[in-house]
Amino acid sequence: MEIKKVMVIGAGQMGGGIAQVAAQAGYATVQYDINMDLVNKGIALINKNLARDVSKGKKSEDEKAAILGRIKPSVSLDDAADCDLVIEAIVENFDIKKKVFEELDKIAPPQAILASNTSSLPITQIAATTKRPAQVIGMHFMNPVPVMKLVEIIRGLATSDEVYQDIEAASIKMGKVPVWCKDVPGFISNRVLQVMINEALWELYEGVAPAENIDNIMKLGMNHPMGPCELADLIGLDTILSILNVMYTGYGDPKYRPSPLLKQYVQAGWLGRKTGKGIYDYSK
Ligand code: CAA
Ligand code: NAD
Repeated sequence: MEIKKVMVIGAGQMGGGIAQVAAQAGYATVQYDINMDLVNKGIALINKNLARDVSKGKKSEDEKAAILGRIKPSVSLDDAADCDLVIEAIVENFDIKKKVFEELDKIAPPQAILASNTSSLPITQIAATTKRPAQVIGMHFMNPVPVMKLVEIIRGLATSDEVYQDIEAASIKMGKVPVWCKDVPGFISNRVLQVMINEALWELYEGVAPAENIDNIMKLGMNHPMGPCELADLIGLDTILSILNVMYTGYGDPKYRPSPLLKQYVQAGWLGRKTGKGIYDYSK
């Protein structure tokens, strides 16, 4: 199927980035969130990213204007009615995603593909909330989306080969390198990454060393571009807690149990960069 029009559900840090790379690829793009303030916030971030590219000579003003011109703001799921691909990037919560997929299944054309950017939730279970499980797939972009090359493609039990091939082609068109994996909790990426981040949070909880030391050890000793505490604040501590809980219940293995400190930070609303405070303080 030829994909011409893409709708991105959620204008947070991931949804905004996905809308940007979709529009950059030439797709007519709809950027949806639950209210116009959130949609505008997402589009303002895209504008800022593109302005940085222009100032570095990577894009012209005309290209920037053309990309922004391809993005239509939306607060109505009815806008999925003429889309070929819908990519959901809302909070990492199955019940909330389920409601959105049930709605989208009613609105989107019968041939449309419904993709989820979930970090960990079973694609097979999301697919089962629709009447088109063969057309549901995981399209897992990495943060920050405009920079990171990978799209991890997760094939649910029912995902068809044709849909997989369409999503592989769309990922390449968006400038990404697709790598597929089977549908297991946390997929490949977060099964590896979140165990490291959680271990850093256990170290912090136990008082082994301050966050700066943990980060410096991983940056200077292992050449990681960011330490695990910095990366946790970039991803969002609420998202990390959700991913760990999905893997903890999904595998029934105590190695995924979230650090009590992580739970406490989330309870406090210290979610990372997006709230101005997480493991580190960004208020200044
Ligand atoms: N949006 C768009 N562009 C951004 C950006 C953002 N949020 N942050 C940085 N950039 C761009 C910069 O403009 C710069 O572009 P140029 O090369 O054109 O100059 C480039 O990225 C490098 O940025 P900086 O020089 O400012 O900073 P840096 O070299 O420290 O790189 C980084 C920043 C790319 C974020 C780097 O620190 C990094 O790779 N960190 C690790 C990120 C990572 O691991 N992401 C995966 C998270 S896990 C996930 O996404 C999956 C999940 O389910 C949770
Ligand atoms: P975020 O908190 O930045 O944004 C979530 C957005 O979803 C918000 O704008 C919110 O208004 C919107 N939203 C909430 N409920 C909604 C609903 N019912 N309908 C429509 N929009 C709704 O979160 P994020 O970091 O962008 O994460 C979004 C998804 O991407 C999650 O599934 C997450 O696991 C996944 N993901 C996150 C990262 C990361 O590093 N943060 C990386 C890869 C994948």
